Amino acid sequence: MAENLQGKLVLITGGSSGIGLALARLVAQEGARVALVARRKEKLEEALASLPGEGHRIFPCDVADAEAVEQMAAQVQGEMGVPDWVVNSAGITRPGYFWELPVEVFHQLMEVNYYGTVHVCKAFVPSMMERGSGHVVNISSVAGFLGVFGYTAYSGSKFAVWGFTDTLRAELKPTGVQTHIVFPPDTDTPQLHYEMPLKPPETKILAETGGLLSAEEVAQETIKGVRKGRYVILPGFDPKWMWKVSHLLGSGTYWLMDILVARARRIARKRGAKQAS
Ligand SMILES: NC(=O)c1ccc[n+]([C@@H]2O[C@H](COP(=O)([O-])OP(=O)(O)OC[C@H]3O[C@@H](n4cnc5c(N)ncnc54)[C@H](OP(=O)(O)O)[C@@H]3O)[C@@H](O)[C@H]2O)c1
Repeated sequence: MAENLQGKLVLITGGSSGIGLALARLVAQEGARVALVARRKEKLEEALASLPGEGHRIFPCDVADAEAVEQMAAQVQGEMGVPDWVVNSAGITRPGYFWELPVEVFHQLMEVNYYGTVHVCKAFVPSMMERGSGHVVNISSVAGFLGVFGYTAYSGSKFAVWGFTDTLRAELKPTGVQTHIVFPPDTDTPQLHYEMPLKPPETKILAETGGLLSAEEVAQETIKGVRKGRYVILPGFDPKWMWKVSHLLGSGTYWLMDILVARARRIARKRGAKQAS
C-alpha cells in the first residue's frame, strides 16, 4: 500500500525553487506538513505561500555551513518533530571547460552539493534511526553517474553524492531508515536557465539529443519511486536508458561518449562556420 503522507513531516532543502518546490507542493497536496530549507528568506516565503494545506514552516539556512545546519535541525525538531522524509534537493551548478573553470568553483559545488547533503544527513539521520523509520532522498543528476562533457565541477560533486548515498544505504538498511538516490535529466527549472548560456557548445549539442522534463514530472517520479521502495530513481526516459546502457557497456561507455562528443564537435564547428559566413 502507498505510504499515506497525511500529517507526515517532509523536510526539503532547496524547497524554495525547481524540483524541491514541486516536491513540496505534491506532498503538501497529500496532507504532509512541509519544512522548507534554502538560503533566501523571500524566496522561501513565496514558496510557503504557494503550498496547499497547513502547518508548513520555513527555515532559512545555508546547507554548506555545518553549524548552521545543526542549529536548523534542532529548531525543526523542536518545533515540528523528526522528519519522516528528508529530501536533499539544494544544489548549484556551473558548466564550462575544465581549463576555464576557476578552482573556487570546484570547491563551491562540493560545499553545497556534496557537503550540504552530508551535513543535512548528519543532522537528521540519528533521530530518524532512533525512531526506526523514515526516508532520506538525495538528488544527484545524470551527470552524477555519467561524466558529461562540460561538467567537471558539477559531475565531481554529484558523483560524490552517489558514492556517499550508496554507502549510507548499506549502513542504514538494518535501521528502518530507507535511502533513495535520484538521477534527474535536464529539468526545466531556474538552475537550467542559469546554466544554459554557460554551457560549452559541445555540451549544448549533447543536451539537444535528450528531452526536457518539468520539475513536476521529476517530483512525481521521485515520490512514486520512494513509495515503491526503490533505491535508484531515474525520472523520465533518458536517465533509464543511459543507466542501462552505461551498466551494460561498462568501460565501453567511454567509447560511446567519445563518439557523441566527436559528433557534437563537428556540429559545433559547422554552426560556427555558418555564423561566421
Ligand atoms: N534542473 C536540472 O536540469 C537538474 C538536473 C539534474 C539534477 N538537478 C539537481 O536537482 C536539484 C534541484 O535543482 P533545481 O534545478 O530545482 O534548482 P533550482 O531551481 O536552482 O533550486 C535550487 C534550490 O537550492 C537552494 N540552494 C542553493 N544553494 C543552497 C545552499 N547553499 N543552501 C541551501 N539551499 C540552497 C536554492 O535556494 P537559495 O538560492 O535561496 O538558497 C533553491 O531553493 C539540485 O541538486 C540539482 O543539482 C537539476
